[in-house]
Amino acid sequence: MRGSSRSKPNRGLSRRTFLKLAGGAIGALAIGPALSRVGIEPLGIGTASEEGGLDLERFVDPLPIPAVMQPTGRDQGATYYEIRMVEFPQKLHRDLPPTVVWGYNGTFPGPTIETRMNERVRVKWINDLPEDHVLPVDTTIPGAEYPDNPYVRNVVHLHGGHVAPESDGHPEDWFTPGQHALYEYPNSQPGATLWYHDHALGITRLNVYAGLAGFYIIRNPREKTLRLPGGNYEIPVVIQDRSFSDDGSLFYPETFMPEFFGDTAVVNGKVWPHLAVEPRRYRFRLLNGSTGRFYNLQLLVMEGGAPSQPGPPLHQIGTDGGLLPAPIRIDGRLLLAPAERADVIIDFSGFEGQSLLLHNDAKTPFISLDQTEDEVPLPEIMRFDVSDSPSSPDTSILPRKLATVPKIPEQSAIKVRDLTLEMKMVMRPGGGMRMQHLLNGLEFHDPVTEKPQLGTTEIWRLINVIDDAHPVHLHLVQFQILDRQPFDVEQYMASGELVFTGDPVPPDPNEDGWKDTVRANPGEVTRIIAHFGDFAGQYVWHCHILEHEDFEMMRPLEVVPGR
Ligand code: C2O
Ligand code: CU
Ligand code: CU
Repeated sequence: MRGSSRSKPNRGLSRRTFLKLAGGAIGALAIGPALSRVGIEPLGIGTASEEGGLDLERFVDPLPIPAVMQPTGRDQGATYYEIRMVEFPQKLHRDLPPTVVWGYNGTFPGPTIETRMNERVRVKWINDLPEDHVLPVDTTIPGAEYPDNPYVRNVVHLHGGHVAPESDGHPEDWFTPGQHALYEYPNSQPGATLWYHDHALGITRLNVYAGLAGFYIIRNPREKTLRLPGGNYEIPVVIQDRSFSDDGSLFYPETFMPEFFGDTAVVNGKVWPHLAVEPRRYRFRLLNGSTGRFYNLQLLVMEGGAPSQPGPPLHQIGTDGGLLPAPIRIDGRLLLAPAERADVIIDFSGFEGQSLLLHNDAKTPFISLDQTEDEVPLPEIMRFDVSDSPSSPDTSILPRKLATVPKIPEQSAIKVRDLTLEMKMVMRPGGGMRMQHLLNGLEFHDPVTEKPQLGTTEIWRLINVIDDAHPVHLHLVQFQILDRQPFDVEQYMASGELVFTGDPVPPDPNEDGWKDTVRANPGEVTRIIAHFGDFAGQYVWHCHILEHEDFEMMRPLEVVPGR
């Protein structure tokens, strides 16, 4: 069932085993002063926390709310925006000197674009960045080789958007300082929390880490009748992790690492912020905008400065691609993989005068919920301080029903694709070995293999043989999760035969809506179903751990026109 001409990667190799194997090679690598100062293991996990991390005071700055972008005017019957990517200093914490970051229109995160369903939007994305990258570029990564590829290259992708290929922000459509691109977004899809971010080949992790990301909200005018919390009571929240050097500059390793985790939570561009809320309902559009960190979130009541019993539950009303059929009460924790969104309602009434910690217990790197090892813990995210009384009566409700999400029938699929998530060890130019993650054993520039026909439906079986959960993202479509099923990894690696070791498990209730990013757990086959309608052409699909995406865990997705 698998092509025989393919090179055989070391599938199923665990991270532990790999690091042990790689141990001998580490000494042979040139370790820069910055790396050795912060105690980074070049082949493993990067973090600045081990020696050089700054311990900044928690919850001293208020949570910023990204400004909603005002259109520049109209262009060809569409709402028109001009957005500049620029470098600038931004104060990320009371006790940090301003940090040089990259942002759209001079803010990190960028301004929020708000639009309505079927409103055509055109954006002129202008590259006004300097010629030098704010972070060290590892030019040994395919697509980032210098001088063929300038250090500063950018392209903007609307994550979750149903757009024509010319406007999708293909990783190779990058442009350099002084250049621009004009993209059009039809917004012909359900109301949803999308986000835009950089996608340049080989340096996406660096461009996003530097700050290039923002919210893009499509509103369904009919949503008003649901009486969800709105206005000041509806707040987009992007959670990211960063590390800083002593001078307040962003820290990111010079040498490519298969994963990098920051030791500091940065929410809407502030380190460990707090938000004053009223005892009433709020709607939060949560986005995991981190390069590789998963979050498993719960509100905990703070007592004497320490978290104690659970705070209010989250009621999830929406997924990546829009509203769920009905709210899902999250009694325990909400798990968010990189790039996933959760639209949630929180009712702070009953918690008057209390402080609530948004607490994370996802282990890093993330394998599963019951793993015990955490190489870079980040338990605190932000704090909510509930006032004594609401400033006006709360007229919002938590509706019983939200939207219809028609199930894509399994029988409508004309093709089933088996796609393996795997890893191999490769030589690093200059000596030593490093980890490379792949989809079906292929690199980005290998011939296109995923070529769905326009107007057809397909089932993709994501077969994860690695000891690591991968958030798999498809451009162009919003798909649905069918199920996840454990299989015998050894057997699969030996013979290519899929032998299931348990029953298929349906998606979690809060995943049972439109999705564009799905968590593929280790040792499981994750089945998704997608309809490829409207647009034909070149797109991509990839793991949204940006280090994986940059180092070959990304493949072309070409929708071909029918006969
Ligand atoms: Cu959010 Cu291809 O990316
Ligand atoms: Cu995308
Ligand atoms: Cu991955």
